[in-house]
Amino acid sequence: MRTRHLAVLPAALAASLLLASCGGDAGSGEGTEGGVALVTEGSLTVCTNPPYEPFEYEEDGEVVGLDIDIVREVADDLGVELVTKVTPFEGIQSGADLNTDNCDIVASGITITEERQAKIDFSDPYFDADQGLLVPEGSDLDSVESLEGKTVGVQQATTGETWAQENGLQTVQFEDLGLQIQALKTGQVDAAVNDIAVLGPFVSEGFEIGANFSTGEQYGLGVKKGNTALLDAVNATLERIREDGTYDELYTQHIGTAPADSASASASASAEPSPSDS
Ligand code: ARG
Repeated sequence: MRTRHLAVLPAALAASLLLASCGGDAGSGEGTEGGVALVTEGSLTVCTNPPYEPFEYEEDGEVVGLDIDIVREVADDLGVELVTKVTPFEGIQSGADLNTDNCDIVASGITITEERQAKIDFSDPYFDADQGLLVPEGSDLDSVESLEGKTVGVQQATTGETWAQENGLQTVQFEDLGLQIQALKTGQVDAAVNDIAVLGPFVSEGFEIGANFSTGEQYGLGVKKGNTALLDAVNATLERIREDGTYDELYTQHIGTAPADSASASASASAEPSPSDS
């Protein structure tokens, strides 16, 4: 509701300001906006790894997508510009980009895992995800068993790679989703595993979803460990956009369905909504 939503962010900002003015400021970065230290004054710098449509992908020389729109809301609430930096996923998920002040925040369809929580502070979850198997149209690859003796392309340092290895699959590693799909096109690999929500765009290109592996993952935005001022601001923005309808709007715009439940996250990637009984 209106009064509630108006109250949320100022409270977080006020708390940060109070901390800053008491000399207990949280970071050592250049600029501060509302008590939040930023690596470049006046900007919120986000590291992200496209191509990963619909979360981050390039369009007319600009990185766009659901993740980008969500962090832009964070930047807006902080009163700063959003700057996007394209970096390999490895450094995003390991905390290296945050630790070297390459960026303030990482937004890259990052699954919250225990191992990563030791290296990154994650926001509240903002998206539910599962793994999917992309195969050439007409292929009979549709399960872990069917992949016996086959090679599976995976993206380096992702949960899909870990999942495939844990399931005993023979993997070939690629630095990003684009290279992974390219290898499937040229026949270098027999199938590809990545988050199911990013496989949809390739279904019209001679591929199909062979299987949906329900891993029950959740995406979070990440900040440097201990940067509570920024983490609080990020969570306040996530709460605001959930309450004022912005999140639903962005989700529907990028995912193609309303965020009714976790199943909706993969619905657009796996199949057309089935027509009702006739
Ligand atoms: N959700 C998976 C993970 O966290 C894959 C994310 C890959 N993201 C990207 N933008 N390439 O490992």
